[in-house]
Amino acid sequence: MKTKTLYFTRFKIAAYAALIALALTGTLSCQRGVEPEPEPTAEGETLSEIYAPYFRIGAAVAGGEYGYDTFRANDNAEAVIAEFSSLTAENAMKAGVIHPTANSWNYAAADKIVSWATARDIGVRGHALVWHQQTGTWMFTDGGTQEEKKAFARANMKAHIEAMLARYGSRVEWWDVVNEAISDSSTGSIYRTDSPWYQAYGDATFIRDAFAFARAANPDVKLYYNDYSMVSAGKRARTIQMIDELDLVRDGLIDGVGMQSHWQIDSPSTSEIQSAIDDFSALGIDVQITELDIVCSSAELPLLAARYAEIFRVLRDNSDKISSVTLWGVADDHTWLTDFHGFTNYPLLWDANFEPKDAYRAVTEF
Ligand code: XIL
Repeated sequence: MKTKTLYFTRFKIAAYAALIALALTGTLSCQRGVEPEPEPTAEGETLSEIYAPYFRIGAAVAGGEYGYDTFRANDNAEAVIAEFSSLTAENAMKAGVIHPTANSWNYAAADKIVSWATARDIGVRGHALVWHQQTGTWMFTDGGTQEEKKAFARANMKAHIEAMLARYGSRVEWWDVVNEAISDSSTGSIYRTDSPWYQAYGDATFIRDAFAFARAANPDVKLYYNDYSMVSAGKRARTIQMIDELDLVRDGLIDGVGMQSHWQIDSPSTSEIQSAIDDFSALGIDVQITELDIVCSSAELPLLAARYAEIFRVLRDNSDKISSVTLWGVADDHTWLTDFHGFTNYPLLWDANFEPKDAYRAVTEF
């Protein structure tokens, strides 16, 4: 980006010098009615400026938890992060990190991300209040009847949600209230029944409670249900069934659905993506792309730019239905996909040295 900025500074100096020369020779005054040349558009602008007419463009960042700090990962990291108009804490706001025991809180990493973002007028997505992973085991109890287990988990959930929403207020504009509560299987329950939340309650009403607690805690922030494989017809249908049977839309408890979007180089197709956006949007709620990345080996890297180009084309075409698109990371030096899939991944828009990749150019030059 530094090179680009320098290039356009030079461009502007050259352009102003040319204008002065024209004015001095009287050429300008002879050309009445001729509009000045427009400023260069896409080039030289940041990702968020280019996407301002479409949707927020975000990234997941780390604030030092688990030994990685995106802001300090590279000399250019802060300039790159400042290209986004929304940030999500990759791990720092998960209950197991921020609230590891009933009476202890690790706010530092999350606070840092929120302060950094709000000081720059960048929005924050809160991720995630209720999830079956990275949650404190202290929230659940093994003993007692189902009713007692439920009462214990419910009280802890309520206190956790209220504390989180009180601390961050409207500085966190969007919350993933419940993450990944739907089953991957088309047989049996539509819910992930091995979730400790489901088990503590004995049913899926924990989802409705979470939304109701969050809504009551701060009616001004926007509340999302977030999950992966939302383009799969079955998972999407089960998600819509959940929203329906818990009356989340009818009772005004949910504002949108987050499609995580951990996708592959050749799947899902653009028409599957379109169908998912259409189906969720038909519920009368917002759609956000919350964790976009593309599993990408070194061999697949030459295909990445074209893949991002087609995905962002579909997303831009649906900007009336999508309020925000977040990438799950900033640069290839740090991606969960490498651990998750067991091979080095290159899924993002900047390379490991925080230099823009062809994929960056594919989403900014269209
Ligand atoms: C991942 C983080 O990126 C990793 O650092 C962490 O070890 C595990 O969680 N779906 C989600 C995210 O909702 O919270 C997950 O993030 C990726 C899958």
